[in-house]
Amino acid sequence: MAKKEAAWGCNDCGARLLKWAGKCPSCGGFNSVVQLTAAEVAITSASAAPGAIQLIIEAAEAAGAPDPPRLATGIGEVDRVLGGGLPAGAAVLLGGEPGIGKSTLLAQIAGAVAVQVPALYVTAEEGLTQIRARLRRVGAVAPGLALAAGSDARQIAARILSGEHRLVVVDSVQLLSLDGVDGEPGGVSQVRACAAELVAAAKRAGVALVLVGHVTKDGTLAGPRLLEHLVDTVLAFEGDRYADLRVLRAVKNRFGATSEIGLLRMEAKGLIEVPDPTGVFIADRDPSVPGSCVIPAVEGNRCLLVEVQALVGPNEALSPARRVSGADPNRVAMVLAVLARRLRLPLGSHDVYVNVTGGAKLSEPAADLAVALAVASAWRDVPVPPDLVAVGEVGLGGELRPAPRYELRASEARRLGFQRLIGPGAGSGRGRVVVSKLADAVEAALGRA
Ligand code: TYD
Ligand code: MG
Repeated sequence: MAKKEAAWGCNDCGARLLKWAGKCPSCGGFNSVVQLTAAEVAITSASAAPGAIQLIIEAAEAAGAPDPPRLATGIGEVDRVLGGGLPAGAAVLLGGEPGIGKSTLLAQIAGAVAVQVPALYVTAEEGLTQIRARLRRVGAVAPGLALAAGSDARQIAARILSGEHRLVVVDSVQLLSLDGVDGEPGGVSQVRACAAELVAAAKRAGVALVLVGHVTKDGTLAGPRLLEHLVDTVLAFEGDRYADLRVLRAVKNRFGATSEIGLLRMEAKGLIEVPDPTGVFIADRDPSVPGSCVIPAVEGNRCLLVEVQALVGPNEALSPARRVSGADPNRVAMVLAVLARRLRLPLGSHDVYVNVTGGAKLSEPAADLAVALAVASAWRDVPVPPDLVAVGEVGLGGELRPAPRYELRASEARRLGFQRLIGPGAGSGRGRVVVSKLADAVEAALGRA
C-alpha cells in the first residue's frame, strides 16, 4: 500500500501534516495549514524519490557519495559561513531588509564564481543596465557571467534544468510568478510555488541556486516558514542600513555549522571583508560611560569582542520596563533577578534597558557576567575599568560558572589591549581575575558599594 504523503504544511511553524486542520497541532496557530504543491511534496518527501520503495543501506565506512564539490564565492567570510563555499546542487535562501546589500553581495559572488564555471544572474527587480552598472562598480564583470531579466518561474526553472550554468542567482523570489497558481507575486502561495519550482529544478540539474528573499521589519522572511524547508541553507544578511558593517549569518545550514558569522563592510566598490574582525564591534565604544562592559564572545571558531550596554532608571509606571536588544531576554531576566535577590539591587522599581552594540548578537550563557556588570555599573553610576573584560555564566544562587574556550578569549582580549579578564575561569594566567561569585565579580570590577 502506498504510504500517505504529508501533503499539508503549516505556514507559521513549518510542520508537515497528513491532512488539513483548522488549528495546527504543532504550534496551535489558526488557519495556517495549507496544501503543499506537488513540487514542495517532491522535494521534502522521501517517498516521492524514485527507488524509495526499497530502503537502500550502505556500510558506514564505504566512501559512498562524495561530498558535493564546492564553488568558492571569492569572499572568505562568505565561504566561512557556508562551511567552505557553495556546494553544487545546494539551494540557498538569502534574506535581508531592502537596501542592506543582497544584490551587491550576489553580484560579487556571481562574478567570482563565473571565473570558475558559467553562472547566471536573473533579476526580477531591476533592469539589465542597472545590474551591469553594479557589476562594473564592484568589479564583478566576468566572461562566464550571463544576465537575464524575468519573473516567470517556469522559464527560469527551464534555464536551470538546461544545466548550462553551474550557479543561478534569482533576485528576488517575492517578484516571481508561476502560472496556474493563485495569488499575486509576493503572496504566500506564489512565493512557495515559485521557490519549490526552482529548487526542484536545481536539485535535478545539480546546479547551485541562490534565491533572494526580502524580510519584514521584525526580521522574518516575508513569506512562509515552509520556504525554509525547501532550501538547504538559509542565510540572513543584517546590519544597520546607515552604517557600513554587515553581518552574514547561517540560520539553517545542511552543509556546515550555523555558528559561524561573516563580517563585511559596505564600501564604495562593494562589500569587503573586515581584515581583523575581533574588535570591530567595540570600535566606537566610550569606556568612560557607566553601564558598559565588554565580553570576549565566541562565534563559531572565532573570538569577537562585544559591548553590552545597560541603562537603569526609576520606573514611573506600574510595572518596570525590560527592553533587551541583541541578547537573550530570558537570560537577561534571570541575571536581573539574581542581581535583585543576591546583591540587593532594587531593580523591581527600576526600568532596565540592555543593548548589544553594533548589531552583534549574544546568545551564549557566558555573556551573563558582562550583562550583570553592565547593569550593576549603570545602577551604581560607576564605569567598568577600561582595561577589563568579563566572561562567565551566572547561576541562580549567584555563583559563576566557567565558559568554554577560555584561553582563546583571554588571548584575544589581551591582544586588543584589555589587561584584565574577570570570570570564574580556571588557570591563573597574567591578568586573570578569578572569581566564583557574582558579588565578588561586581566588587572586583566596581569596588565596594
Ligand atoms: P543593494 O545590494 O541594492 O541592496 P538590496 O539588494 O539588499 O536591496 O545595495 C543597496 C545599498 O548599497 C545602496 O544604498 C547603495 C549601497 N552600495 C554601496 O555602498 N557600494 C556599492 O558598491 C554598491 C553596489 C551599493
Ligand atoms: Mg536588491
